[in-house]
Amino acid sequence: MKSIGILGLGHCLPERVLSNHDLEKMVDTSDEWITTRTGIKERRIAEKDQPNSSLATGAALEAIANSGIAAEDIELIIVATISPDSNFPSVACLVQKAVGARKAAAFDVSAACSGFLYALTTAKQFLAGGMFKNALVIASEKITDLIDWNDRGTCVLFGDGAGACVLGAVDDGHGIISDFMHAQGEFGDLMAVVSDGREPMDQKRELIRLPYVVMQGKELFKVAVNSMALAVEEALKKAGLGLHDIDLVVPHQANDRIITAVAKKLEVPKERFFINIHKYGNMSAASIAVALYEAEEQGVLKKGDHVALVTFGAGLVSAANIVKW
Ligand code: ACO
Repeated sequence: MKSIGILGLGHCLPERVLSNHDLEKMVDTSDEWITTRTGIKERRIAEKDQPNSSLATGAALEAIANSGIAAEDIELIIVATISPDSNFPSVACLVQKAVGARKAAAFDVSAACSGFLYALTTAKQFLAGGMFKNALVIASEKITDLIDWNDRGTCVLFGDGAGACVLGAVDDGHGIISDFMHAQGEFGDLMAVVSDGREPMDQKRELIRLPYVVMQGKELFKVAVNSMALAVEEALKKAGLGLHDIDLVVPHQANDRIITAVAKKLEVPKERFFINIHKYGNMSAASIAVALYEAEEQGVLKKGDHVALVTFGAGLVSAANIVKW
């Protein structure tokens, strides 16, 4: 069986930056509180006329260009998102049209912050099984549309963005060498989207009932640390590797303190974790995809490195992949 790996990466981030100081003018918070509790300094906010699919398309076009595969030869498109333009058509179908991937099958995956890894493993299985030769995997969120901008407990945490990769056959022994996916539905009420009415961020929009995120941060924190540590261990076990074999961990960027706690639990030095949360906050499914893009762009990833991708998200869902670069 051919090894399946990443042929090209892409990303797309909205221009608009919302800093902690900007948030100080919106809710009762401070740069000091946000920085010490989360590590976040600023995040990106998509414009009103910039739907999720436009971010997804931007990331997809860059990943396709970097992959050496023509858009019309893409056979499968999977978009991980919990903030699609609308219930349907799927963001994947909107991207298919925008990039001209006429031959592709296309669908969305909903696994919150674990979406990118759920989509990656799903696509890999299609390729490993021989149904498709390549796949475009995108994680794209306009999650700030789901935020209650009066709730300081959640509005400081999130940002918009998209990352993408093209998967295909790679050198033997390289690529995605193991996968772990898990769900614990019993923790579903720790974070959810409810719809019992709130004020929109932009008062000019005449929306009176908007869905928004509610979260039990403290409880989620504990489950997050345990499930991320477990996911890495399980994926390593499947790969026949140990923690000392890992050159880089690219974790979901929900909170710098969660990453510190995971590093401590696994006894892996935090310097081996790639962190960009200070710039973008939590971009849900898109966080790992954008972090992976930046790790490669910055030359942190070297050919032959073992990389652990690990995440948790609302559901609760967790996942990890070990990739040999
Ligand atoms: N600014 C100032 N004060 C605040 C803010 C804020 N933005 N938010 C909360 N506070 C206050 C609270 O009201 C509380 O005040 P009180 O003591 O007077 O009641 C105090 O700060 C402490 O609040 P806690 O919620 O206990 O703060 P905690 O240290 O737990 O940090 C945080 C909160 C950052 C949310 C943390 O719990 C966390 O990161 N949890 C995990 C969240 C997460 O991972 N979410 C996403 C996961 S799933 C996914 O990614 C889709």
